[in-house]
Amino acid sequence: MSLAVTMPAACIDRVGGPIRIAALPVPRPGPTDVLVRVAASGVNHVDLFVRSGAYRTHTPLPFVIGRDAVGSVVEVGAGVAAFAVGDRVWCNSLGHAGRQGALAEYAVVAADRLYRLPDAIDPEHAAVVLHTGATAHLGLARQARLQAGETLFVEGAGGGVGSAIVQMARFMGARIVATAARRDHDWCRQCGADVLIDYHDDDRYEQARQAAPEGIDVWWDTSGRNDFAAVLPLMRLGGRAIVMSGLRGGAASLPVGPMYTRDVSLHGFAISNASVSDLAHAATAINRLLAAGRLNARIGATFALHQTDQAYAAMAAGQLAGRIVIRV
Ligand SMILES: NC(=O)c1ccc[n+]([C@@H]2O[C@H](COP(=O)([O-])OP(=O)(O)OC[C@H]3O[C@@H](n4cnc5c(N)ncnc54)[C@H](OP(=O)(O)O)[C@@H]3O)[C@@H](O)[C@H]2O)c1
Repeated sequence: MSLAVTMPAACIDRVGGPIRIAALPVPRPGPTDVLVRVAASGVNHVDLFVRSGAYRTHTPLPFVIGRDAVGSVVEVGAGVAAFAVGDRVWCNSLGHAGRQGALAEYAVVAADRLYRLPDAIDPEHAAVVLHTGATAHLGLARQARLQAGETLFVEGAGGGVGSAIVQMARFMGARIVATAARRDHDWCRQCGADVLIDYHDDDRYEQARQAAPEGIDVWWDTSGRNDFAAVLPLMRLGGRAIVMSGLRGGAASLPVGPMYTRDVSLHGFAISNASVSDLAHAATAINRLLAAGRLNARIGATFALHQTDQAYAAMAAGQLAGRIVIRV
């Protein structure tokens, strides 16, 4: 098959500049790379941080944005044995650290950052759980070392990351107490949450205490509020707290008393720092869940590549219940 010379791509010409749809040269794979025809991608908050410069990373200009690509192999580098033309594949570490992004007709992916898409999984279904699923795995498995039978308290469980955390933790055998807006409770139950609390309730932490009378083993607040004063006293000896804040964070105060007296450890991490090996471990878990039909997302909207700017505006407005797909 002969490829076109140029391709449509959603890119920026300067950090902080607008996203435009440009005709860029189709990239060429190096000896250890694979060229992927992208079918679908997801929309993540971090893409906006890259675009605005709020998250500093190497962005050779023009820079194609987007972390997650699902598609099929169209060409393999001479040194690649693991993939062949036609394989259905995915990657969730494009669009930062000098790697061009996923929101283009074609993307070059280093073979060690590429994974097979399980049979019968729809590319658009996969595209919206790759970033959130890997985040969930890094937090629960690598950071918190969540064990079967432990109690996880997840706040913001209705969101993209929150619902992936619930599904991953269910798969790992945890008991899950979750907060979400009431309209998201059915969805969170489908994901596997055992106890749902409305985050608008003034007594939400009293409800959490009653739901976990023996204490919380792992606490993860995806909404970024991190109310240490309320939750640290609810934690069990040896508990692990995962902190996340988007770009809003930094204001929470940390009462150290209930932390050190309970041997609680605090874990911050960013998926952008994950190693190739960490991402591969997460990919194995994601593929296992996908194949079992146990990693799902609500799709709030689907946009075409030329509507990328609208897709990010819709995410930033925060009015959609569900993840956003870009069909390439
Ligand atoms: N550290 C990392 O590597 C990493 C990776 C991925 C994402 N993130 C960060 O994770 C955060 C969440 O991302 P996301 O994609 O899941 O966003 P999202 O889909 O917008 O989810 C956020 C959820 O938090 C809920 N929420 C809002 N206020 C709350 C409160 N007071 N208590 C409990 N829940 C509340 C929201 O509910 P409503 O709909 O009712 O407002 C929504 O369901 C972002 O800040 C993102 O940047 C970090």
